[in-house]
Amino acid sequence: MKINNICCIGAGYVGGPTMAVIAKQCPNIKITIVDVNEARIAAWNSKNLDELPIFELGLADIVKETRGKNLFFSTEIDKAIDEAEMIFISVNTPTKTYGKGKGMASDLKYIELCARQIARVAKQDKIVVEKSTLPVRTASAIKSILDNVGNGVQFQILSNPEFLAEGTAVQDLLNPDRVLIGGDESTKEGEIAVKALVDIYTEWVPKNKILTTNVWSSELSKLTANAFLAQRVSSINAMSEICEKTGADIKEVSKAIGMDSRIGPKFLNASVGFGGSCFQKDILNLVYIAKSYGLNEVADYWEQVIIMNDHQKNRFSDNIVSTLYNTVSGKKITFLGWAFKKDTNDTRESAAIKVADNLLNEQAKIEVYDPKVSEERIYADIANLNTRSAKENKTLLTVKKDPYQACNDAHAIAILTEWDEFKNYNWENIYNNMPKPAFIFDGRGILNKEIIEGIGFIYYKIGSGN
Ligand code: NAD
Ligand code: UDX
Repeated sequence: MKINNICCIGAGYVGGPTMAVIAKQCPNIKITIVDVNEARIAAWNSKNLDELPIFELGLADIVKETRGKNLFFSTEIDKAIDEAEMIFISVNTPTKTYGKGKGMASDLKYIELCARQIARVAKQDKIVVEKSTLPVRTASAIKSILDNVGNGVQFQILSNPEFLAEGTAVQDLLNPDRVLIGGDESTKEGEIAVKALVDIYTEWVPKNKILTTNVWSSELSKLTANAFLAQRVSSINAMSEICEKTGADIKEVSKAIGMDSRIGPKFLNASVGFGGSCFQKDILNLVYIAKSYGLNEVADYWEQVIIMNDHQKNRFSDNIVSTLYNTVSGKKITFLGWAFKKDTNDTRESAAIKVADNLLNEQAKIEVYDPKVSEERIYADIANLNTRSAKENKTLLTVKKDPYQACNDAHAIAILTEWDEFKNYNWENIYNNMPKPAFIFDGRGILNKEIIEGIGFIYYKIGSGN
């Protein structure tokens, strides 16, 4: 079966880049990305490519090349579903904030809404692809809705989790380590559906990197991958605290263990804590799934990854307060970076948010500079915590567009994101415009200790005990 028309529901960080890359690599397939969020669709359609809703290196060029040719952004969801042979569901699956499983389980209401809408609209057989990250066995719920609400047409459900990381999304999509497709190959229809999706990826991904499994393995592999990755970060962050007590250096330890080919060098950077929309949500979901099967030891094991991450954020802000003579009340502290990692404008679950909240509780005055994150986003992130009134937040926290201005008169600078530009600042100038002693708290370990201390700063580097 050859696919000519794809619909993707959800024009977010995954739907947008993923479909843009498929459109680029498969010029004969028409792809329509739909979303209920009109402003987001308008931004994807904006003439000025700087106004796309998502910043990813190389993405604007691909949108420029494909938009209006075989890639379309629209709010006409029914029409796009009706026309497509294959429908990707790429909507958000956040942690539930209410009811049973609150704070742990995935909220599947957007997924269910999509399934009901597809069932209502579809008048021909469709292949429905789970692109969102979902709890294992969600496909059976989707199938049940499609079969019971639908117009008697046949649906095949595939799981095709996305492994892109933000900041490198386009590269990850063009050269994936693997593509995972879960389907029911025990039936003829299932086999045809899997092959249809394999054929799309084969346009640019080598065949040996396209892995097909049963649906449940595919769904669970995505949660497992994120749990393993996050666990590495929490493991190295746990060691960073031991380094600080003992005089060991986490960079040296990371290098030493990463050269063991069984461990490997990636994902061993100590940090102020992992953020992003996926790790915490997916591990909490895994913990919830384990608990729901009565697997309490398994649940506790994975939950520790989150506990360690919370600790890492809190100990970073605690250290700032204790180093600044146990009071930061009224003192200006500059945050360099607000995004959860470099090269993205995404701030979801960014460590900066929690660290800021802790310091605002201590009545610090915070000024933030981030090269890609907007002022509105920063205020929204702080407001969403509901810790204090919007007025108080605005009095205590300000956002600057110039890093040097942001650092002027600061008692301390905290580096929260590893943006490359921070390494090349004129640190001597910055030092001269700060009250003394001038402190830097490097939550990403990106500055050169000798140079920074040579200028006169008191320098704390995460995971460095010297
Ligand atoms: P996002 O919030 O950026 O985008 C989701 C979009 O879906 C939003 O624009 C929202 O308006 C839209 N939407 C929700 N319900 C809808 C409906 N019923 N009809 C039409 N549109 C609807 O989310 P995201 O970061 O793109 O993540 C999407 C999924 O992909 C999640 O399950 C996530 O876990 C998974 N994932 C994310 C990443 C990542 O790096 N962000 C990576 C891999 C997997
Ligand atoms: C992650 C997964 O990597 C990706 O495969 C999945 O599809 C979505 O979730 P993402 O959250 O976009 O991607 O970024 P990632 O590079 O994994 O970083 C997550 C967080 O961990 C960031 O806050 C990052 O700064 C932090 N991190 C990462 C570290 O602190 N140290 C590291 O060594 C690596």
